[in-house]
Amino acid sequence: MSTVKKQTNSNKQSNVWIVGASTGIGRALALHYAKNSLSDGVVISARSADKLASLKAEIEKFGTPCTVLPMDVSDAKSLVQAEEHLSNAVDHVSSVIINAGTCEYMDSNDIDPAMARRVFETNYFGALAVSKIALPHLRAARDKEYSASMVFVSSSVTYQALPRAHAYGASKAALRYFAECLKIDLQHENIN
Ligand SMILES: NC(=O)c1ccc[n+]([C@@H]2O[C@H](COP(=O)([O-])OP(=O)(O)OC[C@H]3O[C@@H](n4cnc5c(N)ncnc54)[C@H](OP(=O)(O)O)[C@@H]3O)[C@@H](O)[C@H]2O)c1
Repeated sequence: MSTVKKQTNSNKQSNVWIVGASTGIGRALALHYAKNSLSDGVVISARSADKLASLKAEIEKFGTPCTVLPMDVSDAKSLVQAEEHLSNAVDHVSSVIINAGTCEYMDSNDIDPAMARRVFETNYFGALAVSKIALPHLRAARDKEYSASMVFVSSSVTYQALPRAHAYGASKAALRYFAECLKIDLQHENIN
């Protein structure tokens, strides 16, 4: 029997966990959350521990606590360690933004399955693994009346094939489909 969870109108955020936070969009998002006090805390992940350490200092200037959680989403051991550290480091994660991504280009006269697998390991399988780690945290946060959400960063390349984007575009299209499936299932649990 499925259970419909009670609805909450709260926009309250505990920690937001941004995966792929060391540069670019993820870094900008982490600073946006801190600057505008959108969450009680920010957890930042990526492979580059040095960049995360300097970002933490910038975030904390805004008075928002920041937890650094270095991880490689394409590495099984790193994922296990991150899962353990996340549970120990913060009480609640109400939102996860799965932004880690990589892009490599392919020529149609040199189709490279190994490269495609490498891109999928980060953009698709890595994102799935992070969503699996995050879900119990989001459910726990939701039960404490926080607004729970999971965000995937795909790409507009999924709407229109682009030259040399064989591997990148396919990985992001797969990710978008996964996210849409998850959305259907999780809407009954009050997780956005
Ligand atoms: N920029 C665009 O025009 C654009 C357009 C459409 C979609 N996107 C998507 O938006 C997201 C962010 O892009 P961006 O332009 O900001 O790129 P970016 O500056 O290269 O940022 C990518 C982030 O992902 C992290 N990352 C990469 N591989 C990882 C791994 N194996 N494990 C953990 N973290 C990993 C990187 O950190 P480390 O290297 O430190 O691990 C970095 O923090 C990506 O998913 C990208 O595909 C970007």
